[in-house]
Amino acid sequence: MDNTFDFSQKVALVAGGTGGIGQLIAAELSSRGCTVITCSRTPNNDPMHITSDLRSPEETQSLIKTLLDQHGSLDIVINAVGVVAFGEIISTSVDTVEELFLTNTFSHIFLTQAALSHMTKGSVIVGISGIIAEQNLPGMATYGASKAAVRSFNEALSREARRLGIRVIDARPPHTETGLATRAIEGVAPKFPQGLTPVSVAQRIVLAIASGEDDLPSAAFSN
Ligand SMILES: NC(=O)c1ccc[n+]([C@@H]2O[C@H](COP(=O)([O-])OP(=O)(O)OC[C@H]3O[C@@H](n4cnc5c(N)ncnc54)[C@H](OP(=O)(O)O)[C@@H]3O)[C@@H](O)[C@H]2O)c1
Repeated sequence: MDNTFDFSQKVALVAGGTGGIGQLIAAELSSRGCTVITCSRTPNNDPMHITSDLRSPEETQSLIKTLLDQHGSLDIVINAVGVVAFGEIISTSVDTVEELFLTNTFSHIFLTQAALSHMTKGSVIVGISGIIAEQNLPGMATYGASKAAVRSFNEALSREARRLGIRVIDARPPHTETGLATRAIEGVAPKFPQGLTPVSVAQRIVLAIASGEDDLPSAAFSN
């Protein structure tokens, strides 16, 4: 695959950039010459980190305003924010249903709405839905549905954004060893086969930006 995208002088936001996949995407973008800003709910001392809860549309608007005030432009948006839950549909709590859709789906929509009008021709948006958006699984129905909604949103976003010269990549990595499953907001993960390494997933996503791809199905990932 050829590398057609010029990362130098580009400003990238990695939402969830402190997480297992997000922090490695941030590092990879940095190594290719981007100015990288991360955000997540938990404050830290990194001057390139902005504390923001993307479940709130107001906080998300404010995140983008702060980033633009500090860095002047926004060329790459990666959304690596997410939470997971396990359990049968019949016993999943209302709080968990709301939390999964707020964090995984609503925040992706809010982030896109806040960022899109500030992005220019040649920019890229990456949403990480996941392999479950290709086929949902028992015991993960609500998580899977929240991710299928992200994939569906990205499908339409991609066509709207194309008119502005902005590329959208829906990335659907298989199970990845970030520990996400051990941090489930409800339920206990089943025993998964060994997953992909977070670094291989992060590098594949950045390669897709570099090489002009506009979709990353699960089959595109390997260690
Ligand atoms: N790991 C896998 O097997 C796998 C497979 C396919 C797809 N994915 C998807 O890939 C993405 C990244 O997964 P991961 O494994 O890297 O997860 P992770 O290590 O748990 O990272 C999640 C990140 O999201 C942030 N976050 C959570 N809620 C937030 C909120 N409301 N506002 C802002 N930031 C928030 C977290 O930081 P704070 O908690 O500090 O906010 C953290 O930085 C997720 O969308 C996940 O569903 C993962």
